[in-house]
Amino acid sequence: MSSRVYEAINDQVNNELSASHSYLAMSGVCEQLNFPGAAHWFRVQSEEERGHALRLFDFIHARNYGVTLRQIHVETVPVRTLLEVFRASLAQEEQVSKQIDALYEIAMQEKDFAAVVEMQWFVTEQVEEEKSARDVIAKLEMAGSDARALLEIDRELGARAGEGGGTGGEGARG
Ligand SMILES: [Fe+2]
Ligand SMILES: [Fe+2]
Repeated sequence: MSSRVYEAINDQVNNELSASHSYLAMSGVCEQLNFPGAAHWFRVQSEEERGHALRLFDFIHARNYGVTLRQIHVETVPVRTLLEVFRASLAQEEQVSKQIDALYEIAMQEKDFAAVVEMQWFVTEQVEEEKSARDVIAKLEMAGSDARALLEIDRELGARAGEGGGTGGEGARG
């Protein structure tokens, strides 16, 4: 593995951990907004991101390199509406998709086919991640400030499987 590919994947381990942290913060915000279902959803999402980090962590070690963990930067999530929290989550996923695309490009340029194959999983995962955030946003936009509709969405979000259901925090769609 070239040092360029290695550095980029190591960065992504840190990026996924920071995404995990930021989803945990969003879960806390949902708790404060009294949406326990959404809080659960983000907690599962946080575990899923940790699963992504561990996947790359294992990949690096399998290729005989070491991982350097860095300090995690946490963005403050404004506590206003559920819709805003989900918009922040979509923005985060769109940013991660860019990181993954850049990583895929580096792996291609360096002709690191093992890394290309590994990144393929992440490219597909990002399509899913963006879609699930957009789906929730669409529902929340329809619900507007209708309390009954919001509570119904929260109930649906609370039904998301994943937490404690897998190993290593792979999450529902792992
Ligand atoms: Fe991720
Ligand atoms: Fe994600």
